[in-house]
Amino acid sequence: MDISKIDHTARELTVRIRRYDPERDDEPRWQEYKVSADPMDRVLDVLLAIKWNQDETLGLRRSCAHGVCGSDAMRINNVNRLACKTLVRTLSGDTMTVEPILGLPVIKDLIVDMKPFFDHYKSVMPYLVNDDPPPTTERLQSPEERARFDDTTKCILCACCTTACPPFWGNQRYVGPASIVNAHRFIFDSRDQAAAERLDILNDAEGVWRCRTVFNCSTACPREIHVTKAIQEVKHAMLTGSLESDRPSQTGHGGD
Ligand code: SF4
Ligand code: F3S
Ligand code: FES
Repeated sequence: MDISKIDHTARELTVRIRRYDPERDDEPRWQEYKVSADPMDRVLDVLLAIKWNQDETLGLRRSCAHGVCGSDAMRINNVNRLACKTLVRTLSGDTMTVEPILGLPVIKDLIVDMKPFFDHYKSVMPYLVNDDPPPTTERLQSPEERARFDDTTKCILCACCTTACPPFWGNQRYVGPASIVNAHRFIFDSRDQAAAERLDILNDAEGVWRCRTVFNCSTACPREIHVTKAIQEVKHAMLTGSLESDRPSQTGHGGD
């Protein structure tokens, strides 16, 4: 992109934010703010400008502001995105709607309670298990073995995928795509020894079998992880009892 050609003409926006303070409100309500934004501003910039200049009571969560920590997932114009990675210029129309991600309890405004999400995450043993005596050097792994789970190492636990999944909206006991992605990361790691245990945990009506291959998770992932493909690989391992892939590796997002 030739940045000298970017049009910086300010856009006059109406920002509609779903507000809810359980200590004051009986039910959620929409509140509108008028904002002048540079097209290269990010939605996070717009929300912080509202909070700092118009309404300090607005509740939102963010930390890194650079797409790394995963703390500012929200629903922007009906799509799950990270506010810090969404430029105003990519959004059409003069009205922007911002609301909390779906399926998790709202603490205040755009801040949801992530505990149920992390409880599911913890349930799949998202850590390396290896009971062999510690080696004197590193545990070796070939480039091919590393490539087997490379995609799922990219997860930043933002919950964009899980909270875009219709089966999760209907049943929050479903472990959700983010947990399966993080189980995948260790199930297919040649150094790990607990794949069978994780597959057993996920071989459940509230585990991988709750997934109906809707693909919303893959579309929502800001890290462009092939989420649905990872879920299919876990199902395949469960059904065949093998961790080998029987399909050629795919490249490019959308190859789920
Ligand atoms: Fe976020 Fe993608 Fe990880 Fe889901 S898989 S939690 S969307 S980074
Ligand atoms: Fe949900 Fe993704 Fe499966 S959106 S149904 S976890 S493919
Ligand atoms: Fe860290 Fe957006 S604030 S990912």
